[in-house]
Order: sequence, then structure tokens, then C-alpha cells
Amino acid sequence: MDLTKIDIQQMPVGVVGLGLMGCSITTCLLISGHPVTGIAPLAADMGHAEERVRAHLTKAIEEGLADKNIDDYIRRLTITDDYSRLADCKITIESTLEDIDIKKAVFEKIEAAVSPTAIIGSNTSAIPISILQQHVRRPERFFGLHWTEPAYTTRFLEIICGDLSDKETAKYLYELAHYWDKEPTLALKDIRGFITNRLMYAMYREAFNLVEGGYASVEDVDRACRNNAGYWMTLVGVFRWMDLTGLPAYHAVMKDLLPTLSNKTEIPKLIDDLVKDGAKGVANAKGFYDYTPEEAKLWQETYREFSYDIMRIAKKYPADVVKKKLAALSTSKG
Ligand SMILES: NC(=O)c1ccc[n+]([C@@H]2O[C@H](COP(=O)([O-])OP(=O)(O)OC[C@H]3O[C@@H](n4cnc5c(N)ncnc54)[C@H](O)[C@@H]3O)[C@@H](O)[C@H]2O)c1
Repeated sequence: MDLTKIDIQQMPVGVVGLGLMGCSITTCLLISGHPVTGIAPLAADMGHAEERVRAHLTKAIEEGLADKNIDDYIRRLTITDDYSRLADCKITIESTLEDIDIKKAVFEKIEAAVSPTAIIGSNTSAIPISILQQHVRRPERFFGLHWTEPAYTTRFLEIICGDLSDKETAKYLYELAHYWDKEPTLALKDIRGFITNRLMYAMYREAFNLVEGGYASVEDVDRACRNNAGYWMTLVGVFRWMDLTGLPAYHAVMKDLLPTLSNKTEIPKLIDDLVKDGAKGVANAKGFYDYTPEEAKLWQETYREFSYDIMRIAKKYPADVVKKKLAALSTSKG
């Protein structure tokens, strides 16, 4: 597969499952120029999907992320419950509920519709790709394609190989993701939780440990995250951060601190009690914090607003920012 020959405009792609993430992945692919077929497995999707995609596109255009009229994008979107409309799609991304039986049934329908060489990706959050691969007929063309919400503003995309995925196709997907305005990561070997969820859940576990152990409140843990890691993480990851701030200190602290970190394996009581009591977070105004319905709605809106601001900062400081500065310096000297 030769990337120099790619014409995104002529490359149909499919998205199966038009819930929260499916709609924002669809928006990202439309803005990138693909014709998109969105499969709505539920009647509810048929009702809301176009409206959701339109709302995303409206905001993206307002924020300067997309430069066509909404109808120019919508014309290139087909929403249907008929899987056979995926026949021409070069890549199909599954984004249905995080339930292996549902995903299994959906893969079967996708494989029955697409060509033998089409790529299939799953937006699973945490089911190992090698396990999902056991449920497809052609595992070599199957990958994890893990997005984050909102998929059309974030630069994040994890491409994950299962044991049987073709590595060359993975590299192709990695290059292609740059056309989707992503700064992708490629996990060549499968591991539960992939890269990002392993990092994040290590932090979530310690956060519960601090609160449940009475060391700090939920509010204080959140403030520490925001104002420490939140301050530098859009510019650098943990390794560059340690380089920037000096390795010996980390080395010294690790010796005494690591043995004291939580390694509990059971679900923390704090979240267990809340979930068993019906809490969903801002979605139903019930979570670690108390919300009025108006506050919950405003948190959702504020997050959306913030995602555009952070995207602008992320674009100002791409991963190769220093290489670019060096190139600019050598051009100005030459
Ligand atoms: N929400 C996030 O921030 C996020 C981030 C990364 C990955 N994911 C993953 O993306 C996937 C979708 O998550 P979401 O947040 O969009 O969920 P969602 O609940 O908003 O959407 C789920 C969609 O699954 C489909 N679906 C539901 N029941 C089905 C059935 N019986 N058969 C076929 N399809 C069915 C429907 O299209 C439905 O809209 C999950 O695997 C999730 O783990 C979500």
C-alpha cells in the first residue's frame, strides 16, 4: 500500500455504531475528506446520528477546523442500517458498545460486506485485540483503532496490533492517521489497556488510594492532577518530562516511593458504591461530585470549549516542535 498514491477524497471509509464516539469519528473522517458510510445498528442511531454529526461540523467550522459548508460534508455521508453499503470501504471502524458479544456479531456483518483486502479497526477501549481477532475470518487485516472523544479535535489515536495483525498494514494506518490530523501512536504488540489506559488506570488507582486512605479529598487530588501533570502534558510525555526536569531526582525518589504505591486489584469501594447506586457522572448529574442538572450540562459544554483551546495549543507544539525550530534556524542561517 503506497501512501503517496492516496487520494482521501476517493477513499470511502465506514463507521459502524453511531453513538457518542461513532458520530465524532465520522465527523473527523468527513473533515479529512473521506466519503463516509455510517452504519446505524440501532433505530435510535438512525434518529440522532445526522443531527449529532451536523452539530459537530457546525462547531468545527466555527472553530476553523473545517473549511467547507456543512452540506458539502453531509453530501459525502451515508447513514444506513444496511451493512452491504460498506462494500467499497477501504477501512471500516467498529465503534459499538464495549461488549464482546455485540462486537463479535458486528464483525461478522462487516466481514460479510467488505472486500477481502479492506482493513477493519475496532475502537474498543480495553478488550485485547488478540482476543477480538479470534472472532474474525481474516485476522491479519484487523487492528485496534482507539480514538478519544471528541475524535475530531484530539490529536490522539492509538493503532494497536493483535498477535495476528499484519505489521506493514499497521505502519500504513499509522501514516494514514496523519491525514486525519492525528499524532498517532503505534503499539506493535498487544497488551490489555494498550498504552494510554495502562498509564491512566495506574493514576486512577493511586487517586482512589489517596482518597480512600484519607490522605486527600477528591477535590485536592483533582487539583493536583490539573496543576501538575495538566500543566505540561500537552507539550511533553512522561519521559521527556523527566529529561526536562532532571533524571537523578526521579531515580532517588523511585527507590522509596514505588514500594508504597497502590497495587490493589479489586475495584475501589468509592466507585463501586457510586456505580451500584446508579451514578454515571455528568451524564446523569451523579458522580464523585454533586451536580445540579444545569451544572452537569455546563461541565459538558465547558469540556467541549476547552477541547478546542487545547487543540490549538497541541497544534502549536507538535511532537517534532524542536526539529521544526532547528530546521527553521538552519534555513535562516543558510
Ligand atoms: N466514550 C468514550 O470516550 C470512548 C473513548 C474511547 C473508546 N470508546 C469505545 O468506543 C465504543 C463506543 O463507545 P461510545 O461511548 O460511543 O458508546 P455509546 O453508548 O454512545 O454508543 C454505543 C453504540 O453501540 C451501538 N450498539 C448498541 N447496542 C448494539 C447492538 N446490540 N448491536 C450493534 N450495535 C449496538 C449503537 O450504535 C450505539 O449507538 C466502545 O467500545 C467504547 O469502549 C469510547
